[in-house]
Amino acid sequence: METRVIPVDREHLHRDMLAEAAQLLRDGELVAFPTETVYGLGGDALDPDASRRIYAAKGRPSDNPLIVHIADTGALRVLAEEIPPEAWELAERFWPGPMTMILRKKAIVPDATTGGLPTVAVRMPSDPVAAMLIRESGVFIAAPSANASGRPSPTCAEHVYEDLNGRIPMILDGGSVPIGLESTIVDLTGEIPMVLRPGFITIEQLREVLPTVEYDPAVIKKVKDETIVAKAPGMRYRHYAPKGELTIFEGDLAAVVARVQAEAEAKAAEGYRVAVLASDETKDLYRGLTVRSVGDREEESTVAAHLFETLREFDRMGAEYIYGECFPEEGVGQAVMNRLMKAAGYRIVKI
Ligand code: TXA
Ligand code: MG
Repeated sequence: METRVIPVDREHLHRDMLAEAAQLLRDGELVAFPTETVYGLGGDALDPDASRRIYAAKGRPSDNPLIVHIADTGALRVLAEEIPPEAWELAERFWPGPMTMILRKKAIVPDATTGGLPTVAVRMPSDPVAAMLIRESGVFIAAPSANASGRPSPTCAEHVYEDLNGRIPMILDGGSVPIGLESTIVDLTGEIPMVLRPGFITIEQLREVLPTVEYDPAVIKKVKDETIVAKAPGMRYRHYAPKGELTIFEGDLAAVVARVQAEAEAKAAEGYRVAVLASDETKDLYRGLTVRSVGDREEESTVAAHLFETLREFDRMGAEYIYGECFPEEGVGQAVMNRLMKAAGYRIVKI
């Protein structure tokens, strides 16, 4: 299958630009498209065959459920039942935007989309291309991140092409996404609302609406602990990982830089291809090593925006060992460190 990449000018967006993509979706085909978080691989959420195509294209285990994307809040009533008042409050405050809610599903949502779960994940994206695509197609769009399973999520159309070329008919290219990490997931089906995946919307922001919201224990674990089972099935799998072995060093920044320099030098001396994951503040402190800055420590949203792209770059350069700094876990830093720890397979060295 030939994969067509269609540029879409988000500044001058017109529905005609999305007509073909919308038709593909109505026909049960797949289209990759930008959202404000990461690129999604979309298919008709109510068509089990479309969902199966999504799993096949990504090489994703079919028990890992998909997020259903909607263009207006009212669609919640079509997809979910027993919707608690908290859901409407969250929607009012954070939609459209990078927040996904887990609710009890209605029968109309096929098991193929929810991985057989009795619940459904719903999100209303703010990206204008995503919103217009949902409206134009007239379908709810099931969309996981548009990467091959296990690889870092795509933050631009080139990443999608890299992973899915030949496996899907169309990629809408809206340029680089603004956020760069996947949405915050909140589970509203239990007694206490739970964050299953941290994202750009922080738990502090959620607490302004839902004071009782807590992290699922699987989110805050710092070590690989097989006894804590993640409620979001996707958070269980090896994920976001570069091909090389990534180790993260935690502690006082000057000590971290010294240790990363020493470890990286030693591995390079053994003849391995080695890279350093640094920040704007530290990148010039390393000597004689291949160094990539992931962003500015003072502006952690820049780290979020470039993390996945940097991990992909390490693959492109064939890095066998990657040594990385850790980042403060405040605000979006919680989500950054969550992804970084997973990418490292929880290989953390405390200094
Ligand atoms: O920002 C995002 O959320 C992006 C864009 C494309 O919207 N999508 C995304 O989808 O990250 P995906 O499939 O890569 O991640 C969805 C996560 C997985 O960890 C999955 O297990 C979880 O959401 N999930 C989906 N439905 C669920 C459910 N009913 N219960 C618990 N977790 C669920
Ligand atoms: Mg994903």
